[in-house]
Amino acid sequence: MPAMDQNLRVPGPTPLPAEVREAQAAPMIDHRGTEFGEMLREISANLAELIGTRADVLLLTGSGTGALEAAVLNTLSPGDRVLAVTIGAFGDRFAKIASAFGAHVERFEVPWGEAAEPPALAEHLRANPPYRAVLLTHNETSTGVTNPLRELAGVVRSAPGDPLLLVDGISGLGAMPFEMDAWGIDLVVSASQKAWMGSPGIAIAALGERAWSANETARMPRFYWDLAEARNWAEKGQTPWTPAVSVLFGLRVGVRRLVAEGREQTWAKHAAIAAAVAEGLESLGLRLVAAPQDRSSTVTAAWLPDGLEWAPFNADMRARGLVVAGGQGAWAGRILRFGHMGVIGIDEMCDAVRILGETLAEHGRTTDVPAAVRAMREVFEARQPAPVA
Ligand SMILES: Cc1ncc(COP(=O)(O)O)c(C=O)c1O
Repeated sequence: MPAMDQNLRVPGPTPLPAEVREAQAAPMIDHRGTEFGEMLREISANLAELIGTRADVLLLTGSGTGALEAAVLNTLSPGDRVLAVTIGAFGDRFAKIASAFGAHVERFEVPWGEAAEPPALAEHLRANPPYRAVLLTHNETSTGVTNPLRELAGVVRSAPGDPLLLVDGISGLGAMPFEMDAWGIDLVVSASQKAWMGSPGIAIAALGERAWSANETARMPRFYWDLAEARNWAEKGQTPWTPAVSVLFGLRVGVRRLVAEGREQTWAKHAAIAAAVAEGLESLGLRLVAAPQDRSSTVTAAWLPDGLEWAPFNADMRARGLVVAGGQGAWAGRILRFGHMGVIGIDEMCDAVRILGETLAEHGRTTDVPAAVRAMREVFEARQPAPVA
């Protein structure tokens, strides 16, 4: 099936607006020239505004995992005691990266499908000091759960030993409330293919003052991911190594769209779409993974009905043009995940739920697709953010 005919509803890469695709097709430029420097500075400044920080926002060529690795390497030394707060597959990945480079990692594990509770984390930090850093996931894409980041950050910032707070914001930033400076976050990473409406290929890392101080003494080995080097080059409007220039062409346009829309408006739109999707899936008889207060605005996960086999069911959805994600790790074959970040509209989401419902019916489940779609539209209309004047 040609990509244009797909309703791509995986939680990144996300569909690209036409103007992003057109921008990416522009002729190549010199990555050591002034035009490139202007682009790099514009994207960084806009990202800083969108995530609420005065910190340096670095644009690195690589995927989000590379930025997670950079976060660890640039702030820690082998043997440092690190607490990894993990609520799913991506929290586990962050912990594994820190272990791989020699940190002494302890885990604060929360059952998959749940969010971390601030009082429980506070108690753990109080009883087991001191940690050099705490690793947190903002939005756990593998389960569709968002952590109460503001509260968790507050807990970490008042913990004994004054640990650094390193955040995986990959699938939440841009789409959900996030205030790097006001919440006391030392370092956060994201990636172009999520809410920013870019293609995969650019990793984003923002480091506050405490993270840069840590960088001066951090002894983990690094070369490609040396962020001090990246910062030095960024001051000249360049990157140390040849960057993914075309991805940056597109990302510039995606980020401009977000600035033009306004952060609160974007956050409200994602929350309204997520509420509509939850309604649609529940109307089809599916049970959602996350409790209402923990639900993500960018990805919704639902349990597959008993006895429904994922592979043939997924193949049939894809044959109808709907591309969603399955479960990861231990949850492979048990859940499906709907992405809704970046370019999102109620029509595409209703269409996705319609195809899901029709495929469920084909697999012997009773569904009322028109009722589900009606319910979605009602929920969306009721939460529809007021248009910008
Ligand atoms: C929360 C989170 N962390 C990390 C990653 C890994 O990012 P990448 O696949 O760009 O390496 C993802 C990707 O889906 C993610 O959603």
